[in-house]
Amino acid sequence: MYLQGKLTIQAQIELAPNIFEMTLTGELVQEMKKPGQFLNVKIPSSDMLLRRPISLHEIDSALNQCKIIYRIEGVGTKILSELQPNDSIDVLGPLGNGFAIESVIPNEKILIVGGGIGTPPMYQLAKALKMKGANITTVLGFASQKVMFHLDKFAELGTLFVTTDDGSFGTAGHAGIVIDQLIANQAFDAVYACGAPGMLRMINERFKTHSRAYLSMEARMACGIGACYACVCHVDGDESETKAVKVCDQGPIFETGKVIIL
Ligand SMILES: Cc1cc2nc3c(=O)[nH]c(=O)nc-3n(C[C@H](O)[C@H](O)[C@H](O)COP(=O)(O)OP(=O)(O)OC[C@H]3O[C@@H](n4cnc5c(N)ncnc54)[C@H](O)[C@@H]3O)c2cc1C
Ligand code: FES
Repeated sequence: MYLQGKLTIQAQIELAPNIFEMTLTGELVQEMKKPGQFLNVKIPSSDMLLRRPISLHEIDSALNQCKIIYRIEGVGTKILSELQPNDSIDVLGPLGNGFAIESVIPNEKILIVGGGIGTPPMYQLAKALKMKGANITTVLGFASQKVMFHLDKFAELGTLFVTTDDGSFGTAGHAGIVIDQLIANQAFDAVYACGAPGMLRMINERFKTHSRAYLSMEARMACGIGACYACVCHVDGDESETKAVKVCDQGPIFETGKVIIL
């Protein structure tokens, strides 16, 4: 169930240039149960009518606290970055279907892939899978060492590989290089990915017929709750090109092979 409500900012820190982590508290946290869900955040400015979708990075029900991580892309995220502790934000959430983790059983081998600002939701996912006793391998791809964050948090939950496009840290190149090496030697029971379209296409190709491989998609959104059709993407294999799914409420998580990634 999603609700509209206020969350209070407890802390806001700049993790890397233009990348901010906001710690939020409020009753709405009790509704946040599934990794991969997101909040549609109202930007506190009278001329910004559309909310901005931001994934839940971490949920702590006991502390009534959640965290989001966002990169400044335009006016909305710039305004968010200027908010201070004790300010409150109006959010709609939690929205979206979240990652399917119900079928994961102890000792299953799980591959988690995150790219750049697609990395945040993968942390709550990794935490939830660790709680289920899964064996986690994470591959994170960043543009450069300068924009990396929270590697230590991911490393605590399993085996971590990092790639950077410019070779400034970890393996030089894109995440697919490491993934190809990994899948040459082992099979994964489930695969979860979130990142830029290029990364998602790569995962979609590698795991198209895998029965438990999931992609978190991004789309420009308006309502965030399935009412306006602003966020549709097309269904793979639909020759009539008339079938579409809404990323906000039927997604943002889809099985590989199901949607066209532009
Ligand atoms: C389900 C979902 C979860 C998301 N989670 C996160 C997150 O955890 N952290 C984060 O930093 N961002 C996330 N985003 C992207 C975030 O919503 C956009 O960056 C944000 O809305 C930009 O708002 P703005 O006003 O700053 O920029 P705008 O002025 O609206 O746009 C500036 C630039 O950003 C691009 N942009 C805007 N919205 C999107 C989008 N939805 N997808 C791709 N590019 C976009 C525009 O094309 C434009 O070039 C998520 C998007 C979706 C759909
Ligand atoms: S954003 Fe309105 S239907 Fe998805």
